Formats: sequence, C-alpha cells, structure tokens
Amino acid sequence: MAGRAHVVVIGNEKGGSGKTTVAMHLAVGLLRLGFRVGCIDLDHRQQSLGRYIANRQDWIGRSKVVLPVPVLGAVSQSVSDLKSESVAEECRAFDGVLAGLGETADFIVVDCPGADAPLARHAHTHADTLITPINDSLLDLDLLGQLDPVSRELKRSGVYANLVWELRQERRKRHKSGIDWVVTRSRLSALVDRNKLMMAEVLPQMQRVLGFRLAEGFGERVIYRYMFLWGLTVLDVEQACIGMEMTKSHQSALDEVCALLANLWLPRVNERLDRLRPPAGR
Ligand SMILES: Nc1ncnc2c1ncn2[C@@H]1O[C@H](COP(=O)(O)OP(=O)(O)OP(=O)(O)O)[C@@H](O)[C@H]1O
Ligand SMILES: [Mg+2]
Repeated sequence: MAGRAHVVVIGNEKGGSGKTTVAMHLAVGLLRLGFRVGCIDLDHRQQSLGRYIANRQDWIGRSKVVLPVPVLGAVSQSVSDLKSESVAEECRAFDGVLAGLGETADFIVVDCPGADAPLARHAHTHADTLITPINDSLLDLDLLGQLDPVSRELKRSGVYANLVWELRQERRKRHKSGIDWVVTRSRLSALVDRNKLMMAEVLPQMQRVLGFRLAEGFGERVIYRYMFLWGLTVLDVEQACIGMEMTKSHQSALDEVCALLANLWLPRVNERLDRLRPPAGR
C-alpha cells in the first residue's frame, strides 16, 4: 500500500492514447497546487514519463528556472528467466517503490505502458483513481465495448473493460476498497465529424454499464507535444524561459488541464484549483 498517498494510475492497453501526456500534466498540476507528488513509469522500454521528468531536471539545471519536479520512483526489472518468478519479483519491487514514495507523497501517479502487462495489471489493483485516456476513435473504443453499428447499442464489453472489472474485484478482496474509473476522450479535434458525434452519443451510455465515469480530456494541440524536450507542460509556459508567451490556445489547454483536475474529484484538489488560474484581467 502507498501509506496515505492517493494513487492515480493512468492505464489503457491501447498504445498512443495520451497516457504519458496526461500523467505529466497531472503530476505538474498537482505539484503546482502545493501537493507532494511521486511518479512511477511502468514502461520499462520507452520510459517516456521518466525521460519527460529527466528533461525537466536538465532544463532546470541549464536555465536556473525554478520549477516543481515530481519524485520518480524506479521499479527495477527482474533478470529472472522464469516468467512467474520475474512477475512476482517486479510486483514486489513495485509495492516497495509505492510504499517508499507513499511515505512522503500526497499523490502517486503511475503511468502504464500501452499493452497488457502483468505489472500494469498489478498496478491497477493499487489504483484509488484509474484514468483511461482514449483516442477519439471508434476503433479505440472497441477495447471498452463492442457496439452494434445500426442500433449503436453495447453488444458486449471490450477486453480492457473486462480487465478493469476483474482487477476491481481483486482490489476489493485485497484492499477492501474500490477504484474510481475515469475515462477521458483524448486528442479531440476541433472539427465536428461523424466519428466525434457518435463517440459523444455512445460513451455516456457505456459509462453506466461498464462502470466508469466520463471526464473531459485534452484537445489535439501542438502545445501538448512541443514541450517534451524541456520537460515542460502547459502549466509552465509563463515561467519556462523558452521564449514562449501564453496564447489563447495555451490558455484553452490550461483550462483543459484544470477541468481534468477538477473532474477527477481527488482529495483536497478542487479547493485549491484557483492557484492554477492567473488573476482575472491579466
Ligand atoms: N492532446 C494532445 N494533443 C496533441 N498531441 C498529443 C496529445 N496527447 C498526446 N499527444 C501526442 O501523441 C503521442 C502519444 O502520446 P503519449 O505518448 O502521451 O501516449 P501514450 O498513451 O502514453 O503512448 P504509449 O501507449 O506508447 O505509452 C505523442 O506523440 C504525444 O506527444
Ligand atoms: Mg506512454
């Protein structure tokens, strides 16, 4: 267990749905609200969240700008050839890292890889909150639920929704508590098209049956991808020292991050959200 820290797992076995982008913005948002934040990157191969945080540390070193940085906990990879042994070893290592971070952190953000992996499954059973960003595509939606093309009704639950259901049972048995599962539509285009309209129609119906709740996600914006090399987020634009000014689009992105933070209903977060918004008139 993670002491009194609230564990937020970002998971979706579909790759490229915006998990790491959400994880970094969430971590920096919580830091800027005055919370202590730990992060765990479970993607041993790509280490995108770890690289994002390392870039931030490097940029702070070079620019001398003062920015909050999450504490990154590393789960070491097992060297055992025996699958069952290596899974058990990595799960124990994860528990140890979680407990270590939990001694000082208010929140722990866990970024899962875009694939079904035993360690990611294990991490889900520790989630107080599970965020699943999904690309705004009917193909990606299939992992949550399979739809009839004519009636648009849910025919059966998808593989990832089934997995979350199983892991929720496991969590209830082990930790005697549930998972607040939040699905966000990710990388939303500004254009209205058939796919977007259908997603908007079917997702609210699916949430009741599959046991998640919908929250607004991030729009498709250059700012979310541009600042990786400096380890920065849209919450840092004004202090980043990279010669950028806050544009209307950046402000809209900041509003999206604030909306996500608000809609997650995380402990003590909503009462502090004003700290992220510049005073009116600026
Ligand atoms: N809201 C957004 N607007 C524009 N680009 C985005 C947005 N969110 C993510 N991206 C870009 O989409 C790609 C995938 O994003 P990201 O790495 O966050 O997804 P992921 O789910 O973590 O992927 P993986 O499953 O490989 O870990 C990256 O190139 C990222 O910069
Ligand atoms: Mg990722």
